[in-house]
Amino acid sequence: MNEVRYFSRTPMPLEMHKVCIVQKTNLPPVERRVEAIREAGFNSYRLFSEDVYLDMLTDSGVNAMTNEQLGAMMVADEAYAGTMTYKKLSAKLTEIFGKTYFLPAHQGRACEHILAKTFVREGDLVPMNFMFGTAVAQISLMGGSFVSLLDDKGLQKQSDEPFKGDFDERKLISILDSEAERIAYVRIEAGTNLIGGQPISMRSMLRAAELCRERGIMSVLDASLLQDNLHFIKTREHPELTIREITRRIADAMDIIYFSARKFGFGRGGVIITDDEAHYLDMKAYVSRYEGFPTYGGMSIREMEAIAVGLDDTMDEVTISQGPAFISYLCAELSKNGVDVVTPPGGLGCHVDARKFVPHIPLAQYPAGSLAAAIYIASGARGMERGGIDEPWEDPNVEPFGAMELVRLAMPRRVYTVSQLNYLIDRLIWLKQNAHIIGGLRFPEGSKRHFYDALESIGDWPQALAAKFREDFRDSL
Ligand code: F0G
Repeated sequence: MNEVRYFSRTPMPLEMHKVCIVQKTNLPPVERRVEAIREAGFNSYRLFSEDVYLDMLTDSGVNAMTNEQLGAMMVADEAYAGTMTYKKLSAKLTEIFGKTYFLPAHQGRACEHILAKTFVREGDLVPMNFMFGTAVAQISLMGGSFVSLLDDKGLQKQSDEPFKGDFDERKLISILDSEAERIAYVRIEAGTNLIGGQPISMRSMLRAAELCRERGIMSVLDASLLQDNLHFIKTREHPELTIREITRRIADAMDIIYFSARKFGFGRGGVIITDDEAHYLDMKAYVSRYEGFPTYGGMSIREMEAIAVGLDDTMDEVTISQGPAFISYLCAELSKNGVDVVTPPGGLGCHVDARKFVPHIPLAQYPAGSLAAAIYIASGARGMERGGIDEPWEDPNVEPFGAMELVRLAMPRRVYTVSQLNYLIDRLIWLKQNAHIIGGLRFPEGSKRHFYDALESIGDWPQALAAKFREDFRDSL
């Protein structure tokens, strides 16, 4: 109902805000871009902002703030202990989620650290709909392991499945019954990041929580990407409910909720909430040890003020429809022009299927990493490789290959305009036509092979791509 459409009935991605503060951005010529990506070891994480025109690496901590959030930052109550800002944020969280106890932490992975420290013991298992790197790293550090129980439909890159983040209920029941003794908790991830920001249905969330409750197992919601997920529940599953009603129904079913406020709440920080006093007290001991005094927990107090205001925006149907609308536009225009993307479009960003874009690049030469570097050369936009480079090595002799090989073009909220997206679409269409020029990448001899390490190009395809760009675009940037 809140959607704006063209006269032709197709959805129109329309900015529902006006710009108050701007940051200048730089579009370096292709000659500099090819130099910059070489200096960065062909790894988009290693680029500096001065060389990046559209920063679509992530939507984490880079969403635009409102004038109201910036205003709130000026009334922050700077106190080491007992800041009134804690009370304000705590009251807002209780208003929205209905939970009594709130613990702050400096960001999402810090919440995951506190949770794993408190609840995971050597040999424990944490089932989840799908894994996320920061969450499973903390579980492994405590000697635990995880199992992803995603319904197979979630791994199909192109489909019209509205909720690809759903659990495979049969697998979940079977694990809960056979492994109950060693299950620390079940982690339910909203907006399933690594399969393309795909939502989980409210039905699946509530069912997972119910199955846990019946067996006395704790349910933990990772709400970092809940914002887009709420939009999809409202539009694809429960149009009769308000965003606040959906949020409350989900929250009521969960024992613990945590989120990265770099994503949820338009700020930078981390939040853990629960109704269980004993759990709260156990976690609180770790917050003061690792994060900061439990009324700020490592967050800047100004950011806490901004989050308290930003949370109201995450409950606003129009505001939260913007990310998905822009992502959907980008995906639709790319698909129309022969670029394969993950469908249906989810939240977080547009995910380009690198295997389809550069089918000639073998997995061992990192198609997604190569494509991310090529997209930067073609446009000055940096996306994020989501494939083999990102994959942790379990056996040092066996190269792990990503299940997906995607390039994520994340959509920071209220940051980029439709004309900037149109620019990116044009450059990607050009790149698709010249995809045969793109070659592979490799880690240099002796590299530790971490996802942010430098790579080298196999052959001088980056130079050839830049030369073709110059030939086709002549004196255009
Ligand atoms: N959970 C999910 C689902 C996330 O997407 C992230 C971060 C975290 C937890 C960790 O939060 O970064 O505040 O420590 N995702 C970022 C991204 C890094 O770019 O997708 P954090």
